[in-house]
Amino acid sequence: MTRNGKISVGIIGAGNIAGHHITGYLQAGEHAQVTAIADVEVERARKHTERLGDVEFFQDYREMITSADLDAVDICLPHHLHKDAIVAAAAAGKHILCEKPLCLTLDEADVVTRAVAGAGVTLMCAHNQLFLPTVATAREMVRRGELGKVYAARTTDVFALDVNAETLGWRAARATSGGGELIDTGYHPNYLLLHLVDSAPVKVAAMLSRHRLSFMEGEDTAHVLVEFADGTIGSIVTGWAYEPPGSMERFSVTGEGGSLWSNGRQLLFKPRGGEQVVVQDAGPSAPDTYALEVVDFIACLREKRRPLNTEVEGVNVLRLILAAYASADRGEIVELENL
Ligand SMILES: NC(=O)c1ccc[n+]([C@@H]2O[C@H](COP(=O)([O-])OP(=O)(O)OC[C@H]3O[C@@H](n4cnc5c(N)ncnc54)[C@H](O)[C@@H]3O)[C@@H](O)[C@H]2O)c1
Repeated sequence: MTRNGKISVGIIGAGNIAGHHITGYLQAGEHAQVTAIADVEVERARKHTERLGDVEFFQDYREMITSADLDAVDICLPHHLHKDAIVAAAAAGKHILCEKPLCLTLDEADVVTRAVAGAGVTLMCAHNQLFLPTVATAREMVRRGELGKVYAARTTDVFALDVNAETLGWRAARATSGGGELIDTGYHPNYLLLHLVDSAPVKVAAMLSRHRLSFMEGEDTAHVLVEFADGTIGSIVTGWAYEPPGSMERFSVTGEGGSLWSNGRQLLFKPRGGEQVVVQDAGPSAPDTYALEVVDFIACLREKRRPLNTEVEGVNVLRLILAAYASADRGEIVELENL
């Protein structure tokens, strides 16, 4: 810890999500401080001055990593730049919080895994929806066996995104996003499914659509089916094309003993043949999962605790998404071990 006993953090990429992460660092202010920000458009970094006070600015993140006095970096870059930034940070011995996706290909995943392990640093994947209190409770209920044998689980993230080619920017091109909606917003229901189901995914079938955002190179909507080793069937529905039907849950899990489901804020459970009960209610306002995630990142570093999702889970999520893309391309069910 380099400054006033606080963990010193440098942010790489000062766009939209960086502002949400900064809220988390301010909440963790007793133990952490953002001391540097790098962005190729330095003005974007400077706009955070008012909230952060004394911060160094860099145009080149590599210069920031080597010359600023940092314990950790927070990577908030477009997807195609994640791998190189992770490797540079790990080589300099910095701990890493990395926005999703971890990287874009299995080759990149190997490079990232070796870089992090070789440096002995902590990497936390910014899988913010795992910090919904309802997700933690649902996972515990599944693992405690409250649903009995699990048959099926569904995770969704569907909304109507109002954008054009210009405002969607790097997200519209495969080379910079890695695909389309599925590897962007669709990344969330993928890690959520893996987090909720207590088994390993083995087979994937996917259908991709471009319903409305015709200027995208990739899909604006994805339907993915996943078979797990224990026979559980997972389904993922995710998209930017339309508003979800009112009945669409954020996640649900169904087993021999009953079902649980959630809109993210409220968690309900209905035992088979019984009355439904509200298990948890976060109230009217959504928890700030970005801030919760950042606060936990700092706590993990202080307590030398493994983050909920490291590069290990990051690679598993990537494999699932790449299998879904392969399935849609080939028009066939893909076995993960053959990916
Ligand atoms: N968890 C979530 O819900 C969520 C939401 C939004 C974004 N994200 C993720 O956050 C990341 C960034 O997304 P965003 O919406 O903030 O994008 P953005 O386009 O708003 O910001 C990206 C920033 O990176 C900067 N940049 C580009 N190349 C750079 C380079 N070589 N060096 C330094 N800076 C560079 C850009 O100038 C820009 O300011 C992505 O991985 C995205 O998937 C996650």
